[in-house]
Amino acid sequence: MEPEHEAQVEECSATEETAQYKTCNDIAFYRRQKLLKSGNCLFHARLDTLSLSGNEAKFQIFNADTKVFLLVEVYSIVGNVVRIKINELAPLKPRYEVPDVLVKEPLTQRLIVLEKDENSITLSPGENGPQILITAKPFQLDISLQQELVLSVNSLGLLYFEHLQPKPEQKTSAETNESSAAKSEKEADNDLGLWEEKFNAFCDTKLSGPTSVGLDFSLHGYEHVYGIPQHAETFQLKPTEDEEPYRLFNLDVFGHKLHSPLGIYGSVPLILAHKPKKTAGIFWLNASETLVDISQRAVAKPLTIGIHQDVKKVRPEPQTDVRWMSESGIIDAFLLLGPSTYDIFKQYAQLTGTQALPSLFSLGYHQCRYSYDDQADVEQVDAGFDEHDIPYDTIWLDIDHTRGNRYFTWDKTKFPNPKRLQQRLKSKKRKLVVISDPHVKVDEKYYIYSQAKARDFFVKDSTGEDFIGLCWPGESCYLDVTNPLARDWYADQYSFKRYECSSDVLYLWNDMNEPSVFKGPEQSLPRNVLHHGGWENRDLHNLYGFYQQMATADGLSRRSAEKERPFVLTRSFFAGSQRYGAMWTGDNMAEWGFLKISIPMLLSISISGISFCGADVGGFFGDPEPELLVRWYQAGAYQPFFRGHSHTESKRREPWLLGEENTKLIRNVIQERYLLLPYWYTIFYEAHVTAKPVMRPLWVEFPEDVDTFGVEDEYLVGNALLVHPVTDAEATAVTILFPGSGEVWYDVKTFQRLQARQTMTVSVTMENIPVFQRGGTVIPKKTKVGKSSGWMSEVPYALQVALDSKNSATGELFLDDGHSFAYQASNQFLYRKFHFHNGVLSSSCADDRGKYKTKCVVEMVLIVGMKASPSSVMVCYSDGTEKVIPFKYDAKTCVLTLENLVLNVGNDWKVKFS
Ligand code: NOJ
Repeated sequence: MEPEHEAQVEECSATEETAQYKTCNDIAFYRRQKLLKSGNCLFHARLDTLSLSGNEAKFQIFNADTKVFLLVEVYSIVGNVVRIKINELAPLKPRYEVPDVLVKEPLTQRLIVLEKDENSITLSPGENGPQILITAKPFQLDISLQQELVLSVNSLGLLYFEHLQPKPEQKTSAETNESSAAKSEKEADNDLGLWEEKFNAFCDTKLSGPTSVGLDFSLHGYEHVYGIPQHAETFQLKPTEDEEPYRLFNLDVFGHKLHSPLGIYGSVPLILAHKPKKTAGIFWLNASETLVDISQRAVAKPLTIGIHQDVKKVRPEPQTDVRWMSESGIIDAFLLLGPSTYDIFKQYAQLTGTQALPSLFSLGYHQCRYSYDDQADVEQVDAGFDEHDIPYDTIWLDIDHTRGNRYFTWDKTKFPNPKRLQQRLKSKKRKLVVISDPHVKVDEKYYIYSQAKARDFFVKDSTGEDFIGLCWPGESCYLDVTNPLARDWYADQYSFKRYECSSDVLYLWNDMNEPSVFKGPEQSLPRNVLHHGGWENRDLHNLYGFYQQMATADGLSRRSAEKERPFVLTRSFFAGSQRYGAMWTGDNMAEWGFLKISIPMLLSISISGISFCGADVGGFFGDPEPELLVRWYQAGAYQPFFRGHSHTESKRREPWLLGEENTKLIRNVIQERYLLLPYWYTIFYEAHVTAKPVMRPLWVEFPEDVDTFGVEDEYLVGNALLVHPVTDAEATAVTILFPGSGEVWYDVKTFQRLQARQTMTVSVTMENIPVFQRGGTVIPKKTKVGKSSGWMSEVPYALQVALDSKNSATGELFLDDGHSFAYQASNQFLYRKFHFHNGVLSSSCADDRGKYKTKCVVEMVLIVGMKASPSSVMVCYSDGTEKVIPFKYDAKTCVLTLENLVLNVGNDWKVKFS
């Protein structure tokens, strides 16, 4: 939301004093759940009801207070995942179960009873699988893997389940549905917000009354937890006792504060816990407002587990307790048991999918502004990049390109010829990205409105009328993107036929899709608006942006008959959004603190499955001083989604506007990004197929090094580059942890060799930020930059081989046409492996399904860390011929350089150093 819009200014100034966003005590279901104290579990499992049929284990649990029965379903999912579902045994009506987030019904295994006594039963799929100990009284689950207790469920007794009840006619709301905890510790004003809840001027009446659910999980041996984006917070999650819980509720938070647990824009209810050698995770599949409490303590743990525990043998162990509380739905928790970090990424991806493979162009630099004035302005900015020799791939049009904020239209006075603009960009192998928000101006003459209305595709208010809220266009209706028919229709609007003046170089940006409603409660939809199927927004709020991006991506795929990969940037997201494109962190500020926090924010998002993420370079609001802008470009160039963006009231700041010296610095780092595009593309392919995040916290690669667990100012790009952005004004040095004992790292500029593990203060200038290549890796690069990534497709490759302490290195290169689905549909790709060992660099096929043909060659090889010069270098080509070639060796830097090579990237070849 932006302050300059009149309607909002009024509303904001009225509400800012009264606090526009809720704190936890404004949230009734939180207050109710917090009345339940740990250690008072009222649930008992009825083990006699246990039934094992197919791959499902089911049993009932009973609330001694409310006399309500719940049904617990337990599944063992192939690959060390346990799923626990808890719902009412006989609900008055169905409760919301999140659809469309899981890629498919998970593959389960048959559970058998391993052990049993009168108070417990142990289930397991077999010898090496997880063991699930069910304790009846009080109800608890203990999950172990390989004889180690990983986590316990309800060990604090905080299982909470508000069963559906008819609305009481006579009784006051506070008299109904009170748990014994509620009765014993009644709030002074009796305001438990059961059937209605007030916030500021808003009154939320609840169709189904109180429906909240909650559960606690204890992670044994873990004291480092991460995930549950999105918050402007540290990477490592903090205990929330005496603080606000982390909130997962997608909101458009104007001028969001640093270090706040308030949920902004998007959410992924996934928490990861890490300890040396082991990682575990909890994926809480619930799309309603969710609050997460975290507490940590040291506990005495028995050395043995299972029914026959020897309670006398104990050791102290750290423990993290995570309490999830959601406003509605059911309990559906996936316990990811690892044991390794990369296992966790795979387990989560098996459920929600991997990162969609981006088109190559979208890994280049994006130039955006809210808004470019008109077509001439855009053309001038485009020309500015050529003039200043700065590569870039896309220019973006914000809301003002449309006719009065009617998406899918053009303001023809400002953009008289959008087709010509696109053709011009296309001729330079560049693209256009335009914005398309989910609110629709109420205007019978606007076809999107009239058609959606005629088809009944808008969200309804609680009386069943189309809900009308305020957003950019004034009075707006909101597309009900949760309706598959509405999504289908919406996707169709992106077809070339329907979307006037659109062409194949036009891509999309979905914004304001929390969704944002000016003057709405917390700037969003009221929770009681109705979606398809009669569900209230409260049930599925966090899915709205997910569905919009899904439909937009679908529309872009369809317009090319599923041949071309879509590109869609979204502001709001949920678990699984990685399948549909990229996200960015929303409206940040041109302040050093926001540059600094972009790193932990992006790390949290990355480990939550969404690799294609970025933050507005330069900061959206305000005017960065030149030093900040340069530092932000230097950081952004080493983050997955790289876009400069600025607010309408910010001064223009295209890369050449802040003086020649700064232009040079920005040019340099954008060029560096372009030289590294083959590496970025390859690690995105890796994320796409193996779920390894592109931007990695150090502990992911160095899982045993406890000192890396709290690091959030440096990170790895793939496994090979260590990056430490400079995020302080006038910094002359930064302190860097070089992780991995026995590892070596090389400064990518000077090739200085640094022995790990050590912490070192490294001096910095404005020229660049510290970036180091890990010994033992090969990075594929391009030898020259062009106007855009498209210009560079034929440019030869360079291989940067950095030797480890055993003089070895390995790395990969993925390549295809860079934009189509042919890599999937007809194996039109190449996946190559480069290996340096015993003085031989070899190129071989890493996936023999790949059939892509290319004339592209490796022209240059750099061997970094070569301690002595070889006497000769010989190339062995794929046809068996051999040739001695010239080389340069620099004894000072220990770098050997080979130039003018003609080694086809698709062929096997060897270079021998002797
Ligand atoms: C809010 C978005 O976060 C921002 O990036 C955009 O420029 C404005 N909306 C206007 O569309």
